[in-house]
Amino acid sequence: MLAKYRGFGAFGAALVLLRACCPGRAESMPPCMERRCMIGRCLCLDQAFNSNCLDGARNPHAAAFLYALIDAVPKDRTARVEQICLISKSLRQTYEALHERDARNMTKLLEQVALVTDGYRALGHRVHRIGVTFYDVFMHLAREALLEMDACPSATPSRTLMWFVSSRDVDAALNVKLALAALEAESRGWGLRVVHNSQAKAVVDSVERALPAHCRSRLESVSLASMGINLPRIRRGQLSCLQASKIYFEGTRDTVVIAGGEDVIVRRPISDQELSYTMLGAPWTWCRAPKHKNTDECRFGGNGGFAIRNPAFVAEHGIQARPKVEGFKAWARECGTMHHNDDIYLAIKMNELYVNGTLGRFRPAPYDALVRFAAETIESDDPVALHKTWKYLSPEYTVRQFRKPLLLIRASLGNANREARARKNETNRRQR
Ligand SMILES: *[C@@H]1O[C@H](CO)[C@@H](O)[C@H](O)[C@H]1NC(C)=O
Ligand SMILES: *[C@@H]1O[C@H](CO)[C@@H](O)[C@H](O)[C@H]1NC(C)=O
Ligand SMILES: *[C@@H]1O[C@H](CO)[C@@H](O)[C@H](O)[C@H]1NC(C)=O
Repeated sequence: MLAKYRGFGAFGAALVLLRACCPGRAESMPPCMERRCMIGRCLCLDQAFNSNCLDGARNPHAAAFLYALIDAVPKDRTARVEQICLISKSLRQTYEALHERDARNMTKLLEQVALVTDGYRALGHRVHRIGVTFYDVFMHLAREALLEMDACPSATPSRTLMWFVSSRDVDAALNVKLALAALEAESRGWGLRVVHNSQAKAVVDSVERALPAHCRSRLESVSLASMGINLPRIRRGQLSCLQASKIYFEGTRDTVVIAGGEDVIVRRPISDQELSYTMLGAPWTWCRAPKHKNTDECRFGGNGGFAIRNPAFVAEHGIQARPKVEGFKAWARECGTMHHNDDIYLAIKMNELYVNGTLGRFRPAPYDALVRFAAETIESDDPVALHKTWKYLSPEYTVRQFRKPLLLIRASLGNANREARARKNETNRRQR
């Protein structure tokens, strides 16, 4: 193996350097024309140079950046070089848009990518999609701007955005801030309710701290314990049942959006027409697959990761038992009758009522409305929200859909800078 490297003559010295860079790895590395030691790794630049990406310039930093991305997801066998190239370009633009001062310093950007991808190793995350790396790096690059963003819940809410967080959702504040800004929460009457289990108190605090000081008191924090669920950890099935339970929506406004965790990117406000439906969520591919026997059953439903849910519908047709009143066991027993996740369960209910002609005031959403509202496994042009599209859909789609959030974050950055400058100006004047 070693002989192969010696064959490249000039790289003898480089090999010594590489050994220092990645001890124990140099000998077993696959053949490579040009390898560099950068940010503590041995990066093969061949693919990066040959891809004609990043202006085709033989800029070793740009190439190393590209390779760091390739290196981040060795398991993604579906990613093509062009896709990695597209992602590199988009991340570079993101970096330039949000980090004006260091915009031209590729080493700095490379360090940021390495921080994220090294984090995978540290946490033992196995990333199988380059789109996931795109998402993680994007959020990392946008972090400061999102935390600084001047986005508040409404002071006089007429609607409720409900965000569930567990102790693992350490960065949920970023997604919540973007959601408030994109929904235009303050002017459109969206209040914010964060639901959490006892271990996630720190996450709730981080969401609160991320709000501008003058609107922190508008955050409503609700613990599962207050609903009668005293569990240190809530299981997925239990959370799902809760989202189909009457008690989950008690004390909310008439229109509710449920969301949660760190997997939701909100892009635009919700239209009045969209708000008029009883339930909306990203449609499912499996529901429309020919092999699915009863496609009518799920036709009015959509994913519950980011969804409109009319509390009155759940109150009438969802899980009735209240753990706080009838006891946890009674509630768990009724949960056992669902046989599906909350979103599918409620969709089946809705269809039954529709077929029976007993829907009353509730409005089922047609497929077009579902697909326009949110994207998860089916592409849609300008959805309100994306739910894990970086895992399920093509990098091309996700990169395109992230342009709008980037512009929004960038615009707020401009405002924040202007305000900071104005404040400074004011102070200077007073001091003079
Ligand atoms: C670019 O960033 C690196 C690492 O942060 C730093 O060492 C270097 O001085 C920067 N280069 C310029 C030209 O600012
Ligand atoms: C629909 O009608 C059938 C037959 O009358 C009934 O068994 C079922 O419970 C009804 N479904 C709903 C959700 O009301
Ligand atoms: C700062 O103050 C000067 C003079 O008072 C004014 O012309 C300028 O526009 C101000 N700059 C900002 C950013 O507010």
